[in-house]
Amino acid sequence: MEGLIERAARHIADSSYAIALTGAGISTESGIPDFRGPQGVWTKNPEAERRAYQGYQRFMQDPKAWWRERLTASTSALGELRVREPNAGHHALVELEKMGILKCLITQNVDGLHEKAGMQSLLEYHGSFAKLRCIECNARFRRDEFDLEDLLQKDQLPPHCPHCKGIVKTDGVGFGEPIPSDVAQSSLEEAWRCDLMLICGTSAVVYPFANLPRVARQKGEATIIEVNAEPTPLTQEGISDYIIDGQTGEVLPAIVEAVKRLRR
Ligand code: APR
Repeated sequence: MEGLIERAARHIADSSYAIALTGAGISTESGIPDFRGPQGVWTKNPEAERRAYQGYQRFMQDPKAWWRERLTASTSALGELRVREPNAGHHALVELEKMGILKCLITQNVDGLHEKAGMQSLLEYHGSFAKLRCIECNARFRRDEFDLEDLLQKDQLPPHCPHCKGIVKTDGVGFGEPIPSDVAQSSLEEAWRCDLMLICGTSAVVYPFANLPRVARQKGEATIIEVNAEPTPLTQEGISDYIIDGQTGEVLPAIVEAVKRLRR
């Protein structure tokens, strides 16, 4: 692996517009299970995945019932996510941004850990658990900008956008839900523009996110590097130039240290 760390460090140090793409794998070392890895949420509970596929459909059919179910559910991942902290992998990417190398990070994760680690140029492709979003104008809100319990008690759900009166839902993007157009457009532009794409902790099976590496490959100028605990379709189809098979919490800090050595 040593050789690959040095090789990745060289590619990253020589890049002029590096971006990173991340998935649930970067957060497992923060205690948040991924979805399809050996201990993944979907791996261990296929029924939960089937239900997740219907979530957005249920929302569109009856937003009021969807919100009532959400606000009265006995268990919620919310509290669990709030106490989680970024790990060395998140911090390594922030360091690359502070060094002026990493220009943007596009994450599928809704756990907010990249933001908590201090990432500035961040696109939350599947939204954030900590935010709400108007499905009409894409305005985002912190959860506490609405008194959801009060709306529930007064039977005034779903929340409505103060700007356009559109319906507001949680920011997390459900299966079948369109990626918010602002994030979708910016992500495509970043994938097209980059000359280095560092893909960390994703199985790369969910679209349209998994299309972004293909956009960079299509342009033909980017070096595409995966850091993942197992090969993915990007590896098998030759979309990535190489994969560093390991834990992001170990590999990414090692790459950053190697980049620092190159820049001395
Ligand atoms: N270091 C490196 N790789 C890891 C680590 C780690 N510490 N932990 C897990 N992985 C790998 C797993 O082996 C797997 O290949 O990360 C990948 C995580 O893949 P998924 O669980 O499929 O997560 P992700 O790719 O983010 O899923 C995409 O699917 O369910 C939806 O909306 C959800 O955003 C999510 C999307």
